[in-house]
Amino acid sequence: MSFVRLGVNVDHVASIRNLRGGTHPDPIKAAQLAIEAGADVITMHLREDRRHISEDDIKRARSLPVPLNMEMAPTEEMNDLACMIRPYACCLVPERRAELTTEGGLDVVGRLAVLQPMIDRLQGVGIRVAVFVDPELHQIESAVSLGVPAVELHTGAYAGGNDGELDRLRAAAGRAHDLGVEVHAGHGLNFANVGSIAAIPQLRELNIGHFLVGEAMFIGLADAVRRMRSLIEAARRSLSVL
Ligand code: PXP
Repeated sequence: MSFVRLGVNVDHVASIRNLRGGTHPDPIKAAQLAIEAGADVITMHLREDRRHISEDDIKRARSLPVPLNMEMAPTEEMNDLACMIRPYACCLVPERRAELTTEGGLDVVGRLAVLQPMIDRLQGVGIRVAVFVDPELHQIESAVSLGVPAVELHTGAYAGGNDGELDRLRAAAGRAHDLGVEVHAGHGLNFANVGSIAAIPQLRELNIGHFLVGEAMFIGLADAVRRMRSLIEAARRSLSVL
């Protein structure tokens, strides 16, 4: 059964740093620890209000030994920055100023005309683009029509305890795979709920942040990442014996 990459999102290391306005704790140091413990990708969300990750963090993260996945809103400002910084990948996410975190997937269906030139520009400079969508077939089909190589499925509703959501995520992953794009997933994942998502056969990448940074307070970041990795691997092994 194919390998699932673990993307570790270090945004909330920067959230803690920014509470005091200094340089500690450094999200790049956290990223290095996460990589040593098994992270395959480092993910950072550069928000329009810069509430956690800064442009300087993104620039420094490019020298890390694994791919950098920059999450960002589809705005002209972010597009300009991404084209300048050139992370390995960009994941386009919706953003509202007052939200505590990303609240839903991108409405690709309603925004095709705005998204297409942005995606073309990002891909034109060699950035691999994914769009973050709710597990809805029409959103996935629209995302695929934009020519992106990957979609990231929003697992927030599943993580919030919505029972029907796992079936929707499975169906969405199957459809995305059949249409030829890579399937990623993330939001709200933790040790207790990651297994069912990691066991979706078409999955290729998970992006996990808030829980890992929180758990780091109790068991350390390296152990939290190692344990997450081993839960993902156990879920994949369970698939191969079916
Ligand atoms: N994937 C995307 C596209 C996100 O916006 C986020 C939150 O920044 C995550 C994954 C990670 O979510 P969490 O911090 O809840 O693990």
